[in-house]
Amino acid sequence: MDAIARDIAACTACGLHKGRVRVVPGSGNPTTGLVLVGEAPGEQEDCQGLPFVGPSGRLLRRLLRLAGVSDDSYYIVNVLKCRPPGNRDPLSEEVDACAPFFHRQLAALAPRLIICLGRFAGRQVLANEDVSIRAMRGNVHQRGGARVILTYHPSALLHRVEFRADAWRDIKRVRRLMTELGLPREAVSR
Ligand code: URA
Repeated sequence: MDAIARDIAACTACGLHKGRVRVVPGSGNPTTGLVLVGEAPGEQEDCQGLPFVGPSGRLLRRLLRLAGVSDDSYYIVNVLKCRPPGNRDPLSEEVDACAPFFHRQLAALAPRLIICLGRFAGRQVLANEDVSIRAMRGNVHQRGGARVILTYHPSALLHRVEFRADAWRDIKRVRRLMTELGLPREAVSR
């Protein structure tokens, strides 16, 4: 993961490198088999170089902890490693430019369970442009050797209270699948 992070830090493949403060390669425990996939860094992530450290990240981590999934039991990456200006949606050329890093990361992490946060993550993980979170959440999908769950992006949960009950169901399903797959839910040695 360190070698990939170094390559990301040197990347100038799309225009986003010009506006970034820092690249955001990913963070967490790479050895547990659980990987969360977000969309792109926001302002705080761009400043700190870490994913999901802003308001939506705090909500996400709080929900996971409530469900008994500790911060140390997953690795978290974004589809894009640099912040889009004003937090706009990623452009397809930006997603394509970042894709080699994203796929190298997934190959290195060898996840057994992947949680896609929002449609950009779902599209990239399932290689399906037609991903709809509303239509596809609630089912368990497959990507190679990994089970895949799709749920709402936590920033949607900040604004749309009506999504929260379903998101909580999805997070409890994550906990059940972790148990089924024998993935650690508490801190493990690295
Ligand atoms: N939203 C994302 O998708 N990723 C982050 O790292 C922060 C907010």
